Amino acid sequence: MANLCIVGLQWGDEGKGKIVDALAKDFDVVVRYQGGSNAGHTVIVDGEKFVLHLIPSGILREGKLCVIGNGVVVDPAQLLEETDALVARGIQMDGNLLVSDRAHIVFPYHKLLDQLKEAGEGRIGTTGRGIGPCYTDKAARVGIRMGEMLDAARFAERIRANVEEKNRLLTALYDAEPLSADGIVKEYLGYAERLRPLIGDAVALLAQCRREEKAILFEGAQGALLDVDFGTYPYVTSSSASAGGVSGGTGVPPKAVERVLGVMKAYCTRVGEGPFPSELADDVGNLLRTRGAEFGATTGRPRRCGWFDAVAVRHTVALCGADAVALTKLDVLTGIDPVRVAVRYRCGGETADHFPADARTLADVEAVYESFPGWEEDLSACRSFEELPAAARSYVQALDDLVGTPVETISVGGDRRATLRR
Ligand code: GDP
Ligand code: IMO
Ligand code: MG
Repeated sequence: MANLCIVGLQWGDEGKGKIVDALAKDFDVVVRYQGGSNAGHTVIVDGEKFVLHLIPSGILREGKLCVIGNGVVVDPAQLLEETDALVARGIQMDGNLLVSDRAHIVFPYHKLLDQLKEAGEGRIGTTGRGIGPCYTDKAARVGIRMGEMLDAARFAERIRANVEEKNRLLTALYDAEPLSADGIVKEYLGYAERLRPLIGDAVALLAQCRREEKAILFEGAQGALLDVDFGTYPYVTSSSASAGGVSGGTGVPPKAVERVLGVMKAYCTRVGEGPFPSELADDVGNLLRTRGAEFGATTGRPRRCGWFDAVAVRHTVALCGADAVALTKLDVLTGIDPVRVAVRYRCGGETADHFPADARTLADVEAVYESFPGWEEDLSACRSFEELPAAARSYVQALDDLVGTPVETISVGGDRRATLRR
């Protein structure tokens, strides 16, 4: 099996977790390469629902090695909560999870700074999980990495130095209460004790897996429209959420990614602020939200809903080099007639099919739609492409044509089994 990257082609929550879980059976290793506990990946196995934030979705398949790469920012409390919850539910967590010693650690001051910044002007609508400030420290070369947990004395020293600096920022800039360095040191030394056995050299491990020709699946978090470089900047996350993030976020060479599968919803959602040309502020939008249960898996916030945006997805398909796509939540469109798709933008009297770099330009475009006949049938029990009603099959073909990449997998429900091959 060729090494595969599964990546979101919209603004996140496309159903990556479900698709990773469905395909993971054919891989040996599943690797997260960016993001942190801002992600919420839902997997439903035999009616049982799991929401994963940091641990790769492959953990629910027995015998798979799961790796949290250096590109991920790790909140240790969240990681331990997640491992404990999985163990309590009978999932094997015994030598099958490795956290890169190069992954950066999220501290309470990251979360506090994230939340304080969001309370001011220019809100991004972040998840408040400290993601931006943690990546800021990484780039500023003052971050603390998982490997540093292995030397308790030095770890404590590094935390103290950082807390001292952040306290100055917190008090001077935000008029906030300073944090207790002692409290954070104590808390994090406790985490270090428990996480020690999971920390290791993921670069060396993945190199060895490649030498042994193990099949590796790279699990993207967020979506390419939230990529720090190629998304709707500044309304993005702080990591490389497109397929290009794999190499920098794991240490495998770019050529190790042999295939890219993009995941896209049959409509579009976005959480937080930022332009969304095909957004629906009407009954259809509300119907999509209710029927699709479009509430954040991490924060519970209602997701903004709209029609499928082919201009945006053409941009991300090209960006990620998607060889094929997995189309999710087709079942949610049942009963909506017609189904519309944004096929072009209109801007200042001109039409364009180019996705602009500037968020302000994108905020000013008007989407131009094409309409497709809807269908009334419930799709959730369909188990082959042929079982889908003709109108649903036509819609799939239209998306295939509009994004210029074959729709290879279709999802008609949250459960592992509700997955069709085309
Ligand atoms: P991710 O972040 O990309 O992994 O996606 P989320 O888990 O945040 O959101 C996707 C939601 O849709 C989850 O609640 C899934 O259980 C659900 N889901 C995934 N695929 C389908 C599908 O084909 N149909 C329906 N109805 N729900 C789905
Ligand atoms: P998964 O992996 C949807 C959004 C936030 C906000 C912006 C920046 O489940 O698809 P951050 O906390 O990262 O600084 O927030 O990015 N965001 C997501 N939206 N799905 C996600 O992850 C997201 N992770 C971050 O809502 O708009
Ligand atoms: Mg999600």
